Amino acid sequence: MTGAETRAEIRAEIDALIVRHFEHLPTLPADQCPLSVPLYGAEEVSGALRALLEQQVTMGSQVREFERAFADFIGSKHAIMVNSGSSANLLAISVLAERSVERGLRPGDEVVVPAVTWATTVAPILQLGLVPVLVDIDADTLNMRADGLREAISARTRAVMPVHLLGNPVDMAPLMEIAREHDLWVIEDTCESLGSEIAGQKVGSFGDFGTFSFYFSHHITTIEGGMLVTNDDLLHDLARSLRAHGWSRDMSNRVELEHENPSIDPHFLFVNLGYNLRPMESQAAFGLVQLRRLEEFNESRRENARYLADALGDLSQHGVRLVTEQEGGRSTWFGFSVLLNDAGRRRALCDHLEARNIATRPIVAGNLVLQPAFRDNPHRVVGTLENATSIGERGLFIGNHPSLTPAHLDHIVLAFRDFFAS
Ligand SMILES: Cc1ncc(COP(=O)(O)O)c(C=O)c1O
Repeated sequence: MTGAETRAEIRAEIDALIVRHFEHLPTLPADQCPLSVPLYGAEEVSGALRALLEQQVTMGSQVREFERAFADFIGSKHAIMVNSGSSANLLAISVLAERSVERGLRPGDEVVVPAVTWATTVAPILQLGLVPVLVDIDADTLNMRADGLREAISARTRAVMPVHLLGNPVDMAPLMEIAREHDLWVIEDTCESLGSEIAGQKVGSFGDFGTFSFYFSHHITTIEGGMLVTNDDLLHDLARSLRAHGWSRDMSNRVELEHENPSIDPHFLFVNLGYNLRPMESQAAFGLVQLRRLEEFNESRRENARYLADALGDLSQHGVRLVTEQEGGRSTWFGFSVLLNDAGRRRALCDHLEARNIATRPIVAGNLVLQPAFRDNPHRVVGTLENATSIGERGLFIGNHPSLTPAHLDHIVLAFRDFFAS
């Protein structure tokens, strides 16, 4: 360090060092295809570090700025940042279960979910004493469909959680129509599909809530982190309160609440049963930079998926099926999935790809009802869940992210071709 005097000068030196550090990061060898690669650079690290250096720690101006930018991007009125996508799902369900919400969710009420999704789409439903109702998914798009929802509805059904799986948008218009007809709450789990669209509208913006994850392998990252969006002022208010201990401090009617409780010091006035799901300023500063890069990231995911689909399409003669992009939608291809007609070859294909340093995963969790956590807890199943089970037996996905170069993609294509040639 030189004899720099002012904080601004010191910061400029730190920023220059960070840039130099990232210039020296090794590139990903063409025969290494991990599920994801951290997609951040000097600007994100400088942003996060600046928050720390300025002693901006937990939830403050950076979080508010990120929330505003995110809500504008999605096209929603409000956004509430939390510490993970799982927390966003928990918060959405918890808000709807609040006693002040008219027609709110009550223990024993049913929430319809697709059988193929992440565990923490369904866990909060059970944690709040509600009953998940699992419906099958479409074999081509891997998403739940409106007719699946219609079939699932009973007298106890009060909500639906469509999940935009692996970047592919759910066909929301018919689903919203049924939800309105039956007065159902709609929470869109958009944790795998930030930036995806259907009929020109961003997913996550259709329902009462949209939830998002910024875990490091997702479309953008704050390392860990998540977001909830809503257009409803009351739901927004409650989400802010429940995110931070259930206190009145973040609510728009705080003054009224303080008047109603004159004997309680308003610093610590608790009006709801809350959690602590707060994000940090450094995460929001990081996210603000990432959000500006999102469209470029998503375009690159789309290009990779097009390339792989073109190059692997003819493997259909070997019983390989690819996922179909939802008609009228724009998928952001969180991973690239394949399904084998012959379930018996799935393990061998995974082993073959892994041996060539191509990471594989099951298509989310397969049929969730087969997983101990859900099998052994209250639930209702609609139909046979045949497609969900089949996807668990026959499906796998590999990573698709902006760090993949044409050389990586060719490595992947060759690995698939060699397997099916043998
Ligand atoms: C569909 C879905 N919902 C929720 C989550 C939870 O997000 P997080 O890992 O940020 O808790 C994930 C995580 O991958 C997911 O895929």
